[in-house]
Amino acid sequence: LREHEEFTKVKNITKIELGRYEIETWYFSPFPAEYNSCEKLYFCEFCLNFMKRKEQLQRHMRKCDLKHPPGDEIYRSGTLSMFEVDGKKNKVYAQNLCYLAKLFLDHKTLYYDVDLFLFYILCECDDRGCHMVGYFSKEKHSEESYNLACILTLPPYQRKGYGKFLISFSYELSKKEGKVGTPERPLSDLGLLSYRGYWTRVLLDILKKHKNNISIKELSDMTAIKAEDVLSTLQGLDLIQYRKGQHAICADPKVLDRHLKAVGRGGLEVDVCKLIWTPYK
Ligand code: ACO
Ligand code: ZN
Repeated sequence: LREHEEFTKVKNITKIELGRYEIETWYFSPFPAEYNSCEKLYFCEFCLNFMKRKEQLQRHMRKCDLKHPPGDEIYRSGTLSMFEVDGKKNKVYAQNLCYLAKLFLDHKTLYYDVDLFLFYILCECDDRGCHMVGYFSKEKHSEESYNLACILTLPPYQRKGYGKFLISFSYELSKKEGKVGTPERPLSDLGLLSYRGYWTRVLLDILKKHKNNISIKELSDMTAIKAEDVLSTLQGLDLIQYRKGQHAICADPKVLDRHLKAVGRGGLEVDVCKLIWTPYK
């Protein structure tokens, strides 16, 4: 049985068409058996239904009346929109999204019950519709204080700041919930890189303002970043001393400035005033 499982995990679908992009896939994804012989799949960029042939997609596009993800638009700023999709209310969409996402996520087993998750879909909007650039998922109720389960920026949109935007958005939701949060483990290399970058930037900015007069707990409360992640980030920056059994922040202004110069800037900020959202009940 094990051998059979390994055999079926060979990457099947090597590329997909989505909106105006053809995208090479990265990993295996457990599409239903009838799609396994296909090299390329054609996705409707709005409802995420997938098809084996281009003509099927063309026919579908003539009658599909979605022009954006299902669910509620909870954020809009300029051409950027964020939609919240309940996996229970939009089960097929959520499952399609998971199949699609798994093509770019190695270590995640995504085949949980989509009912238990909310999906936050980031879109670039124009006169043709709202085009998904990435998303993250979030458990409706997390025992482990996870505020994000899976995050993906579609390859054509990577390295433009969307990942950072999605991470930042996940913490803004946690702030509204009055909770601290942390991403589900394990993180991929790219995931860790993106989180480290985000945590570093956010924490350094606050330390710069408050000099040394702030504790790890206070930093955690202000940012909704879980205390363990605050500590590991500051340790990585060599800003922590261990004294009398306690971790203390020890931020030499020169060291702070050196770190601040090194972190990436600019890009897409979440404009909190434009977020219209209440926590899931
Ligand atoms: N090589 C080097 N650095 C990179 C790369 C790369 N290929 N991609 C992103 N980065 C760095 C950026 O320079 C940036 O650094 P900075 O914060 O110091 O400026 C940081 O990572 C974030 O860059 P963004 O442009 O904001 O992120 P992006 O839109 O590319 O999305 C993401 C990052 C979501 C991790 C993306 O790479 C992705 O979807 N990867 C595949 C799926 C994946 O691995 N997801 C995370 C799994 S872990 C989890 O889901 C909990
Ligand atoms: Zn469709």
